[in-house]
Amino acid sequence: MVKIAIITSKGGTGKTTTAVNLGHGLALSGKRVMLIDCDPHGDLGLVFSVDAEKTLSDLLRTGKTTVNQVRDNLFLITSGGRELNSTELAIAGRDGREFIMRNALSDLRNVDYLICDCAPSRNLININALALVDKVIIPVSMDYLALNGARHTIELMREIKRYTRANLELMGILSTQYDVRTNLSQEIYKVLLRHFPNKVFETVIRVNTRLREAPSYGQTVFEYAINSTGAEDYFSLTNEVLRMNS
Ligand SMILES: Nc1ncnc2c1ncn2[C@@H]1O[C@H](COP(=O)(O)OP(=O)(O)OP(=O)(O)O)[C@@H](O)[C@H]1O
Ligand SMILES: [Mg+2]
Repeated sequence: MVKIAIITSKGGTGKTTTAVNLGHGLALSGKRVMLIDCDPHGDLGLVFSVDAEKTLSDLLRTGKTTVNQVRDNLFLITSGGRELNSTELAIAGRDGREFIMRNALSDLRNVDYLICDCAPSRNLININALALVDKVIIPVSMDYLALNGARHTIELMREIKRYTRANLELMGILSTQYDVRTNLSQEIYKVLLRHFPNKVFETVIRVNTRLREAPSYGQTVFEYAINSTGAEDYFSLTNEVLRMNS
């Protein structure tokens, strides 16, 4: 099983969009995919119209949750919304609090890709996600603050590696919301290549309105607009991820 966290401390960089569309891309390629919504905003539950009885919040508190099938080969554990915030406080005093998610999911079988969609913050839920996964995708929207978010996230990964001894590796920096008409996108892309040699995905996710519209129809981009550049880019990312793990 390949376990991936999609994470960065900057908000709005395309984490959820990537979780949804990479997740569905992999599922359409025949892989069994489990999405875990680690963000109290609960966007994945909204996109897939799931209001589950038990959630990630329950998993952390009791070790039990509901796995929702949302498409062929695609499964989702919803976040629990605001309850996840209170759960974070409730588990903060426990011994081994960084490993609760890892322990609770240790029996998970029959999944090829597990993908955690993280919140843009440095909290105990994200630390649990990083202690669970072995690979990290950092989406960088093409602006300087997102670049800073990537730096902070790499620092956080180093800390987690140190005190959890996790086998955590940067899978790649993903350029998102790339606007082909602006110099800024090109500049930031060059900075990424310079700062993170061999760690920037070849695939670039361009700005595409269809990606923004699809969630309001409860669809992924492959369902909503298969001929869009958004679908093209996420298809390309899916293949790149599959190649990395073949
Ligand atoms: N390539 C893109 N082109 C156009 N719009 C995009 C693209 N990627 C994401 N968006 C839009 O940008 C907004 C933020 O994206 P998204 O929710 O995926 O980011 P996020 O990193 O998960 O945000 P948060 O940090 O709040 O969880 C959404 O409205 C989304 O539809
Ligand atoms: Mg999000």
